[in-house]
Amino acid sequence: MTCATPRFQNSDDLPHPPCDIPEPAMPFLSDTLSRVKPSPTIAMTNKAAELKAEGRDIIGLSAGEPDFDTPANIAEAGRRAIAEGRTRYTAVDGIPELKRAICVKFKRDNDLDYTPSQVSVGTGGKQVLYNALMATLNPGDEVIIPAPYWVSYPDMVLLAGGTPVTVACGIAAGFKITPDQLEAAITPATKWFLFNSPSNPTGAGYSWDELKALSEVLLRHPHVWVMTDDMYEHLTFGDFRFCTPAQVEPELMGRTLTVNGVSKAYAMTGWRIGYAAGPEALIRAMAKVQSQSTSNPSSVSQWAAVEALNGPQDFIATNNTVFERRRDLVVAGLNAAPGVTCPVPDGAFYVYPDISGCIGKTSAGGTVIGDDEAFATALLEEEGVAVVFGAAFGLSPNFRVSYATSDAALEDACTRIRRFCEELR
Ligand SMILES: Cc1ncc(COP(=O)(O)O)c(C=O)c1O
Repeated sequence: MTCATPRFQNSDDLPHPPCDIPEPAMPFLSDTLSRVKPSPTIAMTNKAAELKAEGRDIIGLSAGEPDFDTPANIAEAGRRAIAEGRTRYTAVDGIPELKRAICVKFKRDNDLDYTPSQVSVGTGGKQVLYNALMATLNPGDEVIIPAPYWVSYPDMVLLAGGTPVTVACGIAAGFKITPDQLEAAITPATKWFLFNSPSNPTGAGYSWDELKALSEVLLRHPHVWVMTDDMYEHLTFGDFRFCTPAQVEPELMGRTLTVNGVSKAYAMTGWRIGYAAGPEALIRAMAKVQSQSTSNPSSVSQWAAVEALNGPQDFIATNNTVFERRRDLVVAGLNAAPGVTCPVPDGAFYVYPDISGCIGKTSAGGTVIGDDEAFATALLEEEGVAVVFGAAFGLSPNFRVSYATSDAALEDACTRIRRFCEELR
């Protein structure tokens, strides 16, 4: 029996349904689902994995996670939690020990005073962001999102019934929103300003002065709340100093949700622990959403996160030295490719080169590079390098490289990208 054509928007993202189970008729699926698209980063990662399985020599630069193992003391805390039987349901939005560790972290790293009742713990930063949007958005509510953005923001807003309002922040502005742009985007329907620093996909970080200038706009619009995604706080380089809105402008504290997590800084992507701090009424509403969806995040992972936040922090600097070296290697390698301009990022483990100079040309394999998706697809097929095209992040023509992989793989990838660009006609 042959499979019916999968009805998903992108069959790379979702498994094909088994042949002998009838697919539901389309009206069975919710209208909400039709508004969102599957993650393009996962699609590229899957496509690369497929080619690899066929025996092709593929370098994957599309995954957004550190290539380091979870530090031994943290993994041991997880094992200890199992051995000690800490394997039952916990309080919905986090054990008290973790909430206390998060408060200590906010004081230590950001000079922010939060109490445990102002803290929410979820299954990754992703769930925490989603809970906050679900808990606050009504139809017609707008969320301002600077583009390029993390792929999930607009879709999460749509899933929660709101309207994403994206603001293009180009390479000339360092991929950052200006106070004038923010002012112009605010309407009476604006509920949140949602942003991320250092950024996935650009690595751009907002300085203290830049956040102060944005705060001044926000102070003029008391109905707008701030959702700051600080997931890459600890992955910063050189002179860049991380700061967060509630720290820069304490008057915003009462309408700011400061989101963070252990995934990136502690190489704990699979443990699934994220957290946020903000006004108690919002935190309670987020717990309500979580209580009727997933309940508590994994008990074992919560105990590992307590150790991550309370234990030694020195490996963060060690990892950053590695990431900074790779950043420099990739920036130099990409800037050597004709038609590519790669700015130097402040943090995270991504670069987001502009490829205006490649658009309209034809690859050695005969693909017309009409846009960044065509560029990324031809690059994967012809040179075996998997990157994510810029349209996925809302700003083109660009592509995102995740440099959380070995120096040798990065050098090889840069050589291939350079060759691909040199051969464009
Ligand atoms: C900007 C940003 N925010 C949030 C997340 C979610 O992280 P978590 O693994 O904690 O769900 C990611 C993960 O890629 C991210 O890049």
